[in-house]
Amino acid sequence: MSATPLTAPARLLDALVDRVERATALDAPAEKVVASVRRMIRPGPLKDVLSGTPSAHPAHPPLTAVTVGLFTSASLLDLVRADPAAARRLTGAGLLAAVPTVLSGANDWLSTAQAERRVGLVHAAVNDVAVTLLAFGYLARRRGRHGRGAALGAAGVAALSVGGWLGGHLAFALGVGVDTTAFEHLPADWTDVAAADDVREGEPHPGWADGTALLLTRTGSDIVCLASRCTHRGGALHEGDIADGCVTCPLHGSRFRLTDGSVVTGPAVRPAPVLQVRVVDGRVQVRRDEVRALRTKPVGN
Ligand code: FES
Repeated sequence: MSATPLTAPARLLDALVDRVERATALDAPAEKVVASVRRMIRPGPLKDVLSGTPSAHPAHPPLTAVTVGLFTSASLLDLVRADPAAARRLTGAGLLAAVPTVLSGANDWLSTAQAERRVGLVHAAVNDVAVTLLAFGYLARRRGRHGRGAALGAAGVAALSVGGWLGGHLAFALGVGVDTTAFEHLPADWTDVAAADDVREGEPHPGWADGTALLLTRTGSDIVCLASRCTHRGGALHEGDIADGCVTCPLHGSRFRLTDGSVVTGPAVRPAPVLQVRVVDGRVQVRRDEVRALRTKPVGN
């Protein structure tokens, strides 16, 4: 069977991103940018919206699709030399859409570290160059210099492609934005995890099953069990605080309802997996919800 070779641009980008991931010289400037972004985007409703908490999925990817789609459509019109006014309006709409897109990306970037943070910094820098080119192109179009506007637009879209490739690398290779529990092994069969008397109301009790960390606690007469790994960036929920029927992640403060795992406040967007619980002879036993069983099985044809 013959292998599918990487294309030359992909090989180049792959080699470059490997260097970026290891470029510790980027850490100091990244820290400075992080400090500025943190001052701008504080925990609260705006941060949750930028994270995508109300829609249960990260906000940045769909916003990116809208923004890139508008810019690309303008360039396609330029390519076939059709309707310069429409191309100008599409570019203007793209620049407006770029504002929440950039903010949501910057917000996601705050919760990264090391290689992810370095790649994220370069991803943002390349996209900033792209948007600047597109903004100058828009100004040229408004002055009636459509050829210059189209050329700047094409250069901007080319830069966006590189930025988009890096964004894809962040999501699909480094897992930024992915529910961190997606591939966790939760027990299919009833598994003993604790003595029922050791699980107390208002206190997180750690447990282990099939090598996966769990959070156990009591709500009234019921014992509840959640996967301990925070769906946002993997914080240990069994080290979090419990209050008002919720557990708070110690890393970035997401709150999950204990009874159903739902996200009460972000930046997490996906609920915490809840396990089924029963008590037998004073021992707590748990097993996974079968509906989510695909998490633990390879997917065949
Ligand atoms: S890891 Fe970010 S809120 Fe839990």
